[in-house]
Amino acid sequence: MATRDAVAVAGPTGDRMGEIHGRTFSGFRLGSLELKNRIVMAPLTRQMAEADGTPNDEMVAYYARRARGGVGLIITEGTFENDELGCVAYLNQPGIATPRHVAGWRKVVEAVHALKVPILLQLMHGGRVSDPRCLHAGEQPVSASSTQSPGWVLYTDNDDEKHDRGIPGDWPKVTFPPARAMTAAEIERAADGFAEGAARAVEAGFDGVEIHGANGYLLYQFIHPKTNQRTDAYGGSPENNVRFARLACRRVREAIGPDKVITLRLSQDGVDDFVGAWPGGVAYARAIGKALADCDADALHWSSFAWSQNRDEADPTPMPKALREASGKPVIVNGGIADGKDAEEALATGAGDLVAVGRPLFAQPDWPHIIRSGEAYEWAPFTRKYVIRPPYDYTNGYPVALPEVDWNPDFINTRRQPGWMD
Ligand SMILES: Cc1cc2nc3c(=O)[nH]c(=O)nc-3n(C[C@H](O)[C@H](O)[C@H](O)COP(=O)(O)O)c2cc1C
Repeated sequence: MATRDAVAVAGPTGDRMGEIHGRTFSGFRLGSLELKNRIVMAPLTRQMAEADGTPNDEMVAYYARRARGGVGLIITEGTFENDELGCVAYLNQPGIATPRHVAGWRKVVEAVHALKVPILLQLMHGGRVSDPRCLHAGEQPVSASSTQSPGWVLYTDNDDEKHDRGIPGDWPKVTFPPARAMTAAEIERAADGFAEGAARAVEAGFDGVEIHGANGYLLYQFIHPKTNQRTDAYGGSPENNVRFARLACRRVREAIGPDKVITLRLSQDGVDDFVGAWPGGVAYARAIGKALADCDADALHWSSFAWSQNRDEADPTPMPKALREASGKPVIVNGGIADGKDAEEALATGAGDLVAVGRPLFAQPDWPHIIRSGEAYEWAPFTRKYVIRPPYDYTNGYPVALPEVDWNPDFINTRRQPGWMD
């Protein structure tokens, strides 16, 4: 979601201190994990891995800094589980496909665990919105149905960023090619891919995984009726639309056992449809929640930019609340939670059991400490400069100066070829 608009967040003032502590800073048991508070770092793509997907020391510093900032749980950026069926979605996206990836992630996990914070790896498959430059030569992306995303891969909309990176001329916009419908055998294979990635994540020391079913990527393309036009067991009804996600959860559970945590992320909107709405609105959310009630995930995770805005004129129930009620599962609620009062409100209204915070943690790794202190604080507004391997040391966001980055907007040298990860 690297193209969303920047938002400024406002900090709490001292007199609101009392009202923000109650729920947010109480413990919570998520599957086998005892969390010290209800604040989760939301998954945030940074594209700062090495070209082959290996997590590097910059990522160790980035995640450790946010663990030190006081979150109760970290969910990593979306990570590709293998290089099959167009799974890789972003250039410089981290992977969990090779022993080198495992070794790189192990350093991240050890640094975060040293600060006593648990961490889940988010597993994702890009489907029809994988950056076409990440596909093998001549490869067609896959999706639920033969469709084409109307969006494009846009690396910046900001002249300053172009200037700062020394990029002359137009910034390249890359459109998504038409996708083809997956066969049932390919769906099974992709579910196994999630499971194999999860097993490697556990090998790297992760406390579990999040399966990415949100934000426009492959599983979302099955769950959203707009992109799923199938007439087989994987489409045509809420139960069928979540069948692939359920299968992925099942295979992952079989691979990592009962003691590791699995969360499943869901959303209405996606990277190529910022105002996406489920046909049927809240009723669809309830149907999906019901169909996921006995799935192998320990919790559902609602992804949005404003959790209480459900885009359903007939029913004001927030989507995460509807999912929580219908599934009976704990819910992580995300979207527009900017300060302690927002966090308390999301928890108090029954929209979730945990809150996930994204953009504020880009800019303020100490966000949990800040909202807990209740002190007036000059908030650094979120801007795009925090995203995609920043060329600078933004001192409040990074513990160490960053090295010069060789930023190549054409990315020709990273185009995937057979064996690119070997
Ligand atoms: C730059 C950027 C990258 C993101 N990367 C991911 C990602 O890798 N996986 C994911 O599930 N969501 C991703 N998101 C969505 C966030 O997790 C979150 O849903 C969104 O920022 C709204 O939450 P917030 O209001 O707390 O920022 C990303 C969002 C932004 C702005």
